[in-house]
Amino acid sequence: MSANGHRLFAAVYDRLNAQAERTWLGSRRASLIAQASGEVLEIGAGTGANLGHYRDVTRVVVAEPDPAMRARLVRHLGGATVPVEVSDVPAERLGFPDASFDTVVATLVLCSVADPDAALAEMRRVLRPGGRLLVLEHVRGEGRRARWQDRVTPLWRRVGAGCHPNRDTRSAIVRAGFHPEHEERFEPPRVPAIICPFVEIVGRPEQSVATRQTIS
Ligand SMILES: C[S@@+](CC[C@H](N)C(=O)[O-])C[C@H]1O[C@@H](n2cnc3c(N)ncnc32)[C@H](O)[C@@H]1O
Repeated sequence: MSANGHRLFAAVYDRLNAQAERTWLGSRRASLIAQASGEVLEIGAGTGANLGHYRDVTRVVVAEPDPAMRARLVRHLGGATVPVEVSDVPAERLGFPDASFDTVVATLVLCSVADPDAALAEMRRVLRPGGRLLVLEHVRGEGRRARWQDRVTPLWRRVGAGCHPNRDTRSAIVRAGFHPEHEERFEPPRVPAIICPFVEIVGRPEQSVATRQTIS
């Protein structure tokens, strides 16, 4: 990323997503973000598309390392009805103390982070026991589609500000020590096949699942 970030990508991002936001993405965001509670960290918050969906939470830290995206995020802070703080930390080096958030949110970002395993380890570290991970991502397909995604990824990364269509993000989430309590894999309408399918996952840190089972 240059010092100014991905300026062109940031400038067109909301327009690129406008139709999807109206037809399916906006309602997916709303139902996922409605499950956030307490102190919330959102990684790679982009232009702030989730901001207006936060309701009964104490505070939200929206982290966005790309200065071009962050400038737009700051302009959209008025759309939030909850206290919001902006941070520039990348997901791989969050810098917050251990167990400092009740909810961690990642939407359309684990495809773009440089190191998804490091990012998920950090997300796991800052989440409190019993906390919730809320994820909406496009992921690697299967069979021929996955092989096609592998071939196209080097080019796609360059035009899509680091986006990898071939990431098996669901496996990375489990590998990082999260238990998916709810998960749905789906093909949204009118989305290019190269960035399908999508997953929605609500996860808990594994340890807190084990603890709850021991107590009950
Ligand atoms: C496709 S946009 C998604 C933005 C937003 N989350 C949304 O749902 O619309 C991907 C975002 O990931 C951010 N990003 C890229 N690398 C990152 C990293 N290492 N840590 C955190 N965010 C990162 C980009 O700057 C960009 O804002």
